[in-house]
Amino acid sequence: MIYEKLRNKEATMAVVGLGYVGLPIALEFARDIKVLGFDINAERVELMKKGIDPSNELDSSEFDGCDIEFTANPDDLKKANFFVVAVPTPINSSNQPDLGPVLSASKTVGNALKKGDYVIYESTVYPGCTEDDCVPVLEKLSGLKMGDDFKVGYSPERINPGDKQHTIRTIVKVVAGNDAEALEEIAKTYEMVIDAGVHKAANIKTAEASKVIENTQRDVNISLINELSIILNRVGINTYDVLECARTKWNFLNFTPGLVGGHCIGVDPYYLTHKAKKLGYHARVINSGRYVNDSMGPYVGKQTVKRILEQGKNILDARVLVIGMTFKENVSDIRNSKVIDVIRELDSFSVNVDVIDPWADPAEVKHEYDVDLIPEAKQGAYDAVIVAVNHKQYDNMNEADFKALMNDDQGVLVDLKGLYRHNIKDLNYWSL
Ligand SMILES: NC(=O)c1ccc[n+]([C@@H]2O[C@H](COP(=O)([O-])OP(=O)(O)OC[C@H]3O[C@@H](n4cnc5c(N)ncnc54)[C@H](O)[C@@H]3O)[C@@H](O)[C@H]2O)c1
Repeated sequence: MIYEKLRNKEATMAVVGLGYVGLPIALEFARDIKVLGFDINAERVELMKKGIDPSNELDSSEFDGCDIEFTANPDDLKKANFFVVAVPTPINSSNQPDLGPVLSASKTVGNALKKGDYVIYESTVYPGCTEDDCVPVLEKLSGLKMGDDFKVGYSPERINPGDKQHTIRTIVKVVAGNDAEALEEIAKTYEMVIDAGVHKAANIKTAEASKVIENTQRDVNISLINELSIILNRVGINTYDVLECARTKWNFLNFTPGLVGGHCIGVDPYYLTHKAKKLGYHARVINSGRYVNDSMGPYVGKQTVKRILEQGKNILDARVLVIGMTFKENVSDIRNSKVIDVIRELDSFSVNVDVIDPWADPAEVKHEYDVDLIPEAKQGAYDAVIVAVNHKQYDNMNEADFKALMNDDQGVLVDLKGLYRHNIKDLNYWSL
């Protein structure tokens, strides 16, 4: 039985794809069993060999005492028996699932697969992807038959980058297998590292669907609050003040307006709508939510321009400071950050835009968005300041700090998360 063999170090686990999801899971298992960490990015592998997490989430100390070997050589995978696949599942420019990485990882694993092996997918996919898209690749490349020769499972990941409270060990993990025996073995294996325990799903499709609906539910809920924010802005009242009142009711859900970026909440719903469309159903609510959330960046840009114009200023001479470039607060990840939509909107009005972010890597921002981060904001330079991402460094900023950045006393402060709304008296304040 695979669990016993892993436990006794007679079998090896391979984690394929060592990013935000793969590396923490690999290190967690490597405290108890033998792990091989594989990634196609040789540069990242070199860093991990030195005990450095290229995603900047884990301290070097988390590598201590781990029985793990890092490699970028697919031949090494032949030593492994239990494969955990955690590669990206992005969308393409038409918002369609891009299965490229997950199929390519399936080929790599297929080439290394032997009788009795297990393959568990952790990447977020639509229901059916594991069995209908990935298993045929595994079978073709290995010449083996799923069920008879090897087993397959799915276990979605729920970690939340930057969140030190909800970690792998403390989040219940959903697990699924292609048959009862696979489910049992996979459950026991994950139970080794998940203190919160596992939840056994009825089957693989159920586990796949559970993950994609978790993020779809968040996306749709946020879109409702974003739409309310647009309406309440027209009414002339502050959304956060309204939410504060509404939240005093026990069953009011706690969502706030904002930019929905990153590679989970703004992406996963498209996997579900893609599947729905293939099954002949056009998902209206989910797509409307996506539309509203994707239009928030341009909306914030326009609202800023409007407020600068209201000061009687020439927009072509205006200078705006954008604070924060990452997809959310206190992380360095800039992928799919919707702050770029705010910047592009301002650009389209020929506004001069400066961007600062102490978390983001300037070279990555340049490469991904062709934006040059400046190391520090200029004093007395701006017609408007947009606090787009509430990194902890900015929590204690006060009106005097913002005033010092403005070029006159009519400056516009755009505070997406409504953090400073009780403390701004003189500046032209606006929040979502
Ligand atoms: N980041 C999160 O918070 C989070 C949370 C839950 C679920 N997920 C899901 O987990 C999956 C992985 O996401 P992530 O954030 O860890 O991605 P990531 O981009 O941080 O890491 C992916 C890693 O996989 C490697 N890789 C890409 N193609 C590969 C291949 N063919 N073979 C081997 N390695 C390959 C990359 O080099 C990279 O190191 C995605 O499906 C994502 O939706 C992510």
